[in-house]
Amino acid sequence: MAFKSLLLISSLLHYAVSQNLPPGVNPPLAQSCGPSSSNVVCVNRYASVMPYHFYRKPSEGTNDIPFAKTHVPNDTSFSLVGRANFLVFDQQRALEILGSSPTYDKVFNVSEAVHEAPVYVPSLNKLFLSNLAPPAGVLKPQLVIDLNSDPPTLSEFFSDPPVYAPNGGTFHDGLIYWGASGGNTSIGGIEQRPGIQTLDPHTNKTKVLLNNYFGFYFNTVDDLFVDKTGAIWFTDPQYSWFNRLVDTPPQLRSASYRFDPKTGVVQVVDDTIVQPNGIAMDPECKHIYISETGAETGSIVAGGPPGSPFNQTGLRAVYKYDLTDGGTHIANKRPIWYAQDWVPDGLKVAANGYIVTGTGYGVDVLDPYGVLIVRIQTDFVVQNMAWVGDDLTEMWLTGQGGLARVRWNLKGQDLASSSS
Ligand SMILES: *[C@@H]1O[C@H](CO)[C@@H](O)[C@H](O)[C@H]1NC(C)=O
Ligand SMILES: *[C@@H]1O[C@H](CO)[C@@H](O)[C@H](O)[C@H]1NC(C)=O
Ligand SMILES: *[C@@H]1O[C@H](CO)[C@@H](O)[C@H](O)[C@H]1NC(C)=O
Ligand SMILES: *[C@@H]1O[C@H](CO)[C@@H](O)[C@H](O)[C@H]1NC(C)=O
Ligand SMILES: *[C@@H]1O[C@H](CO)[C@@H](O)[C@H](O)[C@H]1NC(C)=O
Repeated sequence: MAFKSLLLISSLLHYAVSQNLPPGVNPPLAQSCGPSSSNVVCVNRYASVMPYHFYRKPSEGTNDIPFAKTHVPNDTSFSLVGRANFLVFDQQRALEILGSSPTYDKVFNVSEAVHEAPVYVPSLNKLFLSNLAPPAGVLKPQLVIDLNSDPPTLSEFFSDPPVYAPNGGTFHDGLIYWGASGGNTSIGGIEQRPGIQTLDPHTNKTKVLLNNYFGFYFNTVDDLFVDKTGAIWFTDPQYSWFNRLVDTPPQLRSASYRFDPKTGVVQVVDDTIVQPNGIAMDPECKHIYISETGAETGSIVAGGPPGSPFNQTGLRAVYKYDLTDGGTHIANKRPIWYAQDWVPDGLKVAANGYIVTGTGYGVDVLDPYGVLIVRIQTDFVVQNMAWVGDDLTEMWLTGQGGLARVRWNLKGQDLASSSS
């Protein structure tokens, strides 16, 4: 090593010590990068070494503290993080999926109610979504975004008969499949129970496909997808009791299932996740991902307190499984992503196999091994997302307080052509 560079290193070392930088810190942590069509900020080396003294307050109760709120006084570049629409971690792959002119727009301000189950219907060019409690027990209309007009329009919608609290949705063979998450003996004059229903978006007619497990009520059919054989995979956490969208405390433990509507068979596929939430399959039909939102868990006792406050050290991970047993079961559960913000709620898989999951104030984009590539940052908690349009390069995010649109190069799976 030349004398000159030794000198440089020793003076850098001196700088580091005097500025309270641990050896190994490599400022700046963040810098503007990428196309100018939106605010793109690169985080260098995942900010894996921060200058002392840094601190991120834990999230608590209903208060989500995002990464950008980390206090890093000794690297002023970190203030760029909070302003980014797209926070880039893996620069090469992120810039590929962002493309030359990525955009982020919050298109609609909506209520603080949970907005879930976004389902794109190509034949109508409309995005259906749901509007959950609060208030609990009230039959609310669902919402529809008409993408044929520019700007898109938002309107309310009642199916026939109406369905209470769809919490997950997908599209298969011309029908919307809803995971209905609530019910009691009389919701808007009719009895409803958690289960699976279809909606024909051209006639508005709904049909119940599943509403019990050998006589027991499901807890909260939360999210679902339909595989190529027509079987419906769904998660059944306990949120509807925590949120009092049902009148009966859980009769079943939290679990995930595969339901074959051709035969009526319901098979449990996982009973180890505290609160299974988003569920999706990769395009090659070899893996299934299920998100765990156990960090938000409440009491399942009849007289217990309502709600499911956030627990900072609770479980909040995306698990990956391999398909086994002729595609009817899953094995080799392993965590691939520990959500750094809030809990991983809705989860979808892009056409290239990348995973997108709504986590607190944003959406994480992960490769199939759980490496964080880019994060979309929002000013509302995102529950779920769906791709829309002809080439499926536009993705809508639905959540508490906002409906937002992202235009980029990451394509969704074509659900309309996925049936066998
Ligand atoms: C680095 O941070 C510490 C603690 O916040 C502070 O006391 C110190 O002055 C900072 N140094 C600089 C150069 O900002
Ligand atoms: C949403 O509300 C905020 C605050 O009132 C306002 O600044 C913004 O323009 C609104 N956005 C839309 C899309 O209406
Ligand atoms: C069902 O929900 C309705 C609407 O909130 C409420 O009026 C009724 O008391 C509930 N019934 C039961 C049995 O919980
Ligand atoms: C279905 O509902 C939408 C929205 O309320 C309405 O515009 C449409 O005419 C309905 N279709 C049928 C076949 O009733
Ligand atoms: C939060 O979760 C941890 C497990 O990681 C558990 O030990 C603790 O009791 C929980 N706290 C509350 C308030 O439920």
